[in-house]
Amino acid sequence: MDNPGKFYITTPIYYVNARPHIGHTYTTVVCDAIARRQRMMGMDTWFLTGTDEHGQKIERSAAAAGCSPREFVDKIAGEFRALWDHMKITYDDFIRTTEPRHIRGVQAMFTRLQERGYIYKGSYSGQYCVFDELYVDAAGPGAPCPECGRPTETVHEENYFFKLSAMQEPLLKFYAEHPGFIRPEPRRNEVTAFVRSGLRDLSVSRTSFKWGIPVPNDPKHVIYVWLDALANYMTAIGFGSDDPADVQKLARYWPADVHMIGKEIVRFHCVYWPAFLLAADLPLPKSIIAHGWLLFEESKMSKSRGNIVRSETILDTLGGDALRYFLLREIVFGQDGSFSFDALVQRFNADLANDLGNLSSRTLSMITRYFDGEVPYPSASERTPADEAIGALAGRTIADFHAQFEQFQFSRALETAWSLVAAVNKYIVENEPWAVAEREDQDSRARLATILYTSAEALRVVSALVHPVIPDATARIWSQLGLGEIDKFDLRSLAWGQLQLGTKLGKVEPVFPRADKSTVERMQQMEQQRSMEGASKETIAASPEPQPAGTGTQLGRPATQADSVPSPPASVPAAVDNKITIDDFLKVELRVGEVKVAEKVKGADKLLRMEVDIGSEVRQIVAGIAKAYEPEKLIGRKVVIVTNLQPRKLRGLESNGMIVAASLGDEGQPVLAGFLEDVPVGAKLK
Ligand code: MSP
Repeated sequence: MDNPGKFYITTPIYYVNARPHIGHTYTTVVCDAIARRQRMMGMDTWFLTGTDEHGQKIERSAAAAGCSPREFVDKIAGEFRALWDHMKITYDDFIRTTEPRHIRGVQAMFTRLQERGYIYKGSYSGQYCVFDELYVDAAGPGAPCPECGRPTETVHEENYFFKLSAMQEPLLKFYAEHPGFIRPEPRRNEVTAFVRSGLRDLSVSRTSFKWGIPVPNDPKHVIYVWLDALANYMTAIGFGSDDPADVQKLARYWPADVHMIGKEIVRFHCVYWPAFLLAADLPLPKSIIAHGWLLFEESKMSKSRGNIVRSETILDTLGGDALRYFLLREIVFGQDGSFSFDALVQRFNADLANDLGNLSSRTLSMITRYFDGEVPYPSASERTPADEAIGALAGRTIADFHAQFEQFQFSRALETAWSLVAAVNKYIVENEPWAVAEREDQDSRARLATILYTSAEALRVVSALVHPVIPDATARIWSQLGLGEIDKFDLRSLAWGQLQLGTKLGKVEPVFPRADKSTVERMQQMEQQRSMEGASKETIAASPEPQPAGTGTQLGRPATQADSVPSPPASVPAAVDNKITIDDFLKVELRVGEVKVAEKVKGADKLLRMEVDIGSEVRQIVAGIAKAYEPEKLIGRKVVIVTNLQPRKLRGLESNGMIVAASLGDEGQPVLAGFLEDVPVGAKLK
């Protein structure tokens, strides 16, 4: 069913309960650069993106915003699409999971799985943690959640189940036979270990909310959001339709060549999606590539953490190329990387305005001045080893750039291209074309022609290579070089020495004006303004980001995630009178403590184990604050401790007291209580 010469790439479909930020832009830009390059390499390329619009959180967000889910999702999906259009992202299709073509396709997939005997009706009874939204196995009523220590609730629900357990061996066999399926390597190892540890059947329907795709012939159930969402990669190209054009498109593009995703959704893509496809007897995608996170102020950029940066701020100041270049150059693909306005401006000035911008403007303006705007031909006699060296370096640059880009090593590929830029800038300085131009003899004229040809040819080579990353600037350089439309260039043919004698340059203009000192401040102000506007208008709930659970990998996330979980019954009866007496309050002993030791708890990535001095003794306290605080930074910090709580065990460790913290947002991000003045350890709070 596979077709040579085609290339199908997808982004995740983004949740519409958070507005787009540069974390989303990162994935989209990576895919856009890959898609643009594949087109330049002559591939019949299909690039899909879209929005994920079903689920309980969307339903609740819409209710909170006082509008219907449909109005709500239309608005945010529109914002994603408008941003990609503004950024000239070259997506071929934008799928929304609320579209009829998707709904029909998902139902067809569900029915197919049912008919093949992989879906059955059953019920779940057990413990459930509301905070982590996870089912807790092997725990009795009231048992604490192994992740956060909060008491779990008992739930009973009738669901459809997918026989994931039956897919364990087929999946392992598939991973073994397709070593390039999951990349990079560490993710592949995590996935394999996870599947090897055993798979349980997966609940694939919900009855507790309505905003989803109804199960065929049983509409009181809606289909599990991840089964719904993952199927987009096929429904968008025609799965579930019998229109001949759709049938043809599906046959042309499926299986996908690359599903590009963030590392937190590896499990859904590398375990569930291939399991559904194996069970449905459909071909599996060729590769799933997981990248790291964009961090801002040291934690993952996300709306729920309130640390987002919007792409628009950068687009309005430095432009789209600056953002694209930064994301691909600064972040080592596959690893987490930090965003800061300072680093962005530094990169922009150093690499784009200085290195590439200078190479372009001085080469082109000297050709304009000394050769009347026509590319001169390098002289056969007036050649030096320095000219040969640039030609040879350019040849190696082309080969290395391609190899690195194809291995998703974008940062290295750009470094490779910029080594050529740096070498040519150095070559220009050392060969002083401006001094050569002052000498009027024939040989000097020939020498000048060689220097400027060499520089212009290198500029052409670099522009062609990096066009997929910085499309606007390179298109402008290309037309200034007199070469017409860069998009029409066949990148496969790129080689040294193709720039034609006598090519008439276009109008020469600077491509990257330098950013001055005030740019960072301006961007920060714009960002502040945007978040204030956002905060006053916004009623959107925090993004239901999957959080990695205690295995220390991204795969520990429980099978039942975010939107798909049933609402558990409230366990605590609402207080009739929520006032307590002073005596009640005084039952709680609160004291100032100082953290002496803090360390992560192995296998539980939310928990920290601390030893806290409370004056009279040093207590061991285990708390679910590891996502918000680096252990090293807590040492020496004064905190507030509830000292007379009964000890309890978390992950086998006794916790003797509780650390007091504010709990922010839907995710309950902890912020530790503290004091502005210095307070002695052991002081009582009342
Ligand atoms: N709707 C699901 C995906 C379903 S795909 C069948 C989802 N949506 S999301 O809106 O939360 O988007 C997650 C994706 O956005 C990540 O996998 C990643 O591609 C991108 N990113 C969102 N925040 C990001 C960072 N801070 N850093 C890097 N990528 C980020 O999960």
